[in-house]
Amino acid sequence: MSYIEFNNVNKNYKMGEITIKALNNANFEIEKGELVVIVGPSGAGKTTTLNILGGMDTATSGRVLVDGKNITKLKGKGLIKYRREDIGFVFQFYNLIQNLTAKENVELATQICKNSLDVDTVIEKVGLKERKNNFPSQLSRRRTTKSSYSTSNC
Ligand SMILES: Nc1ncnc2c1ncn2[C@@H]1O[C@H](COP(=O)(O)OP(=O)(O)O)[C@@H](O)[C@H]1O
Ligand SMILES: [Mg+2]
Repeated sequence: MSYIEFNNVNKNYKMGEITIKALNNANFEIEKGELVVIVGPSGAGKTTTLNILGGMDTATSGRVLVDGKNITKLKGKGLIKYRREDIGFVFQFYNLIQNLTAKENVELATQICKNSLDVDTVIEKVGLKERKNNFPSQLSRRRTTKSSYSTSNC
């Protein structure tokens, strides 16, 4: 069994009468420690795949295994726990709290995560040591290229 497995995963979005097949029988496996890049044209289902893997959306059918856990069976609190403790997610559009500094944004995660990493060490690792007291709007001059950062090991 691989660390991550997508087995016959389908995701349908219903738009009134129309059903959009965002994922049509997706199958892949990722081993522990493997670095993987998902490429494909716009609309291919990359974001849908990552949202399902990140526990932010659920598959219509099929099975998604992460470290032996079938996350397609998770609901409500189970999904919250999975997102909090098992997954780190870098959002395409950053999700930072605007009136907290970079450091305070990182500290937020440490309030709710088990075994969180040291805030200053994490900030230094991503090259933001000099900017940790800046607010999100002050972190980058190029608004279109901003990204968020996952702040802990949860
Ligand atoms: N929330 C949604 N409602 C309806 N259709 C969606 C939704 N999200 C994605 N889709 C559709 O699913 C398909 C895959 O989208 P997406 O996963 O965003 O692709 P990608 O990230 O590869 O560009 C596209 O046809 C898209 O329009
Ligand atoms: Mg996308």
